[in-house]
Amino acid sequence: MPLQQTNPTATNAWKQLEQLCKKEATLHCKELFATDPSRAKRLSREWGDFFVDFSKNRITEESVNLLLQLAEEMSLDDAIKKFFEGDVINQTEGRAVLHTALRAKKDEVIWQDGVNVVDEVHQVRNKIKEFCVGIISGSTKGYTGKAFTDVVNIGIGGSDLGPFMVTEALAFYKNHLTLHYVSNIDGDHVHEALKQLDPETTLFIIVSKSFTTQETLGNATTSKNWFLQTAGQEDVPKHFIAVSSNVEKAVAYGIKPDNIFPMWDWVGGRFSLWSAVGLSAALGIGYENFEKLLDGANAMDRHFKETELENNLPVLMALLTVWYNNFLGAETEAIIPYTQYLHRFSAYLQQGFMESNGKRVDRAGLPVTYQTGTVIWGEPGTNAQHAFFQLIHQGTKLIPADFIGFRTSLHGDQEHHDKLMANFFAQTEALMNGKTKEEAASELELSNNTAETIEALLPFKIFPGNNPTTTILIEKLTPHSLGALIAMYEHKIFVQGVLWNIFSFDQWGVELGKQLATTILAEIQTKNTGSHDSSTSQLIHKFLNK
Ligand code: F6P
Repeated sequence: MPLQQTNPTATNAWKQLEQLCKKEATLHCKELFATDPSRAKRLSREWGDFFVDFSKNRITEESVNLLLQLAEEMSLDDAIKKFFEGDVINQTEGRAVLHTALRAKKDEVIWQDGVNVVDEVHQVRNKIKEFCVGIISGSTKGYTGKAFTDVVNIGIGGSDLGPFMVTEALAFYKNHLTLHYVSNIDGDHVHEALKQLDPETTLFIIVSKSFTTQETLGNATTSKNWFLQTAGQEDVPKHFIAVSSNVEKAVAYGIKPDNIFPMWDWVGGRFSLWSAVGLSAALGIGYENFEKLLDGANAMDRHFKETELENNLPVLMALLTVWYNNFLGAETEAIIPYTQYLHRFSAYLQQGFMESNGKRVDRAGLPVTYQTGTVIWGEPGTNAQHAFFQLIHQGTKLIPADFIGFRTSLHGDQEHHDKLMANFFAQTEALMNGKTKEEAASELELSNNTAETIEALLPFKIFPGNNPTTTILIEKLTPHSLGALIAMYEHKIFVQGVLWNIFSFDQWGVELGKQLATTILAEIQTKNTGSHDSSTSQLIHKFLNK
């Protein structure tokens, strides 16, 4: 069954939230803490080794209740059920959305066209396991009998961002294999990777769900030609494997059927790292760790599926976005992990959120009259503090931010970790409390400034505060906790889509540019420019030196 269609603005909750946001516009979080000693406790949730503190958000009991009411009026419960049961909720592509099946336990049953997909998933998992064991142990060898040392993942978008992010995030758990990620059609990307490699010991994984993506096929061909400079055509199968749901195209490209790891059309590219798309990551961290990653995601799936809305982490996070995005005028959301290991996390989530919820028509195909997907961005703390935090503290924009931190450091350098975490806590406190005129003035007085200097500097020293943050404090960065963290954000994406009455699992918006690039490429190659606007024509001519 498709998802129900309701215009969110027509719900009672939405109308009341519109009134409430006017009333609450002047509320300062600091005052909310001052008047409610139980606020931090009341607005925090504990799940496994996650502690999520929502209390530094601009929310009151009234707004939270209305947001929960909105979720009910938008039939969120029903949508979650349909999602997990494999209903065709990706309607514009006529597909189910079942990335949750990729991390399902062996005894779970999820039917799709008369097949229990969990069985198929576990068969592929076994193939991944066997393959990993062979490559990591060195028993599977390259064409000259040497063990593999390097693995190149060739893919883009969901076929790159997920495995790359996980590989970086779990670098602490990595084995001897060196991983490379080549995505951009910019030849400098692939050539920069190839120049470090030895064809005898390099494995290439061509990852493309569709097996039609220009960037991936271009980089695969360049890599294969480079390989063939030293090896023979008969050696290719030992060094080139593929992950795709388009087996026919992969075979036509020259990949041996045995060397193709299948995926399914009910897995969206940006949600596919749990499938064989994650093979490079699995090779880097070992299959056992990859399985722990899946288990962590599965645990979050169960939390999301089984927990009442008011205690459900992805639901609460999505409701906050709606509050800020649709009622308080925020346009972006920052994600700031306080660990260098997660330096690709925001980039990865950008695709998840922005490709999913960057939609302008609702599920009936009508233009929406309200804001949908937010701009997602971020960098790890503390680097972020020295780059863009100025704007969050004293700029003019409202930027809700998630702060993700870990109680235990992986290398165990407590001195560093204490400093890191001191910054982590200090920033959310500063963002919330700010600094009043009186506080700023007394600081300036203490530094022996003249009355004149104090008056001149004061406006620049004031921090308004009231900048919302959600703190996600996790025991330790492990494959399991990372899996759960990623799945939490995946489900947040889903809930947002339900609340905005949009289709989150298609991505038609990426097609137009691809089509035009194909046309322009032919023009560049034949030096015959077609009809364009005068700016585009001028630029192509400049490129062709005409
Ligand atoms: O262009 C967008 C997109 O379709 C993404 O959704 C996808 O992750 C990426 O391209 C790569 O697609 P494929 O895995 O089919 O090569």
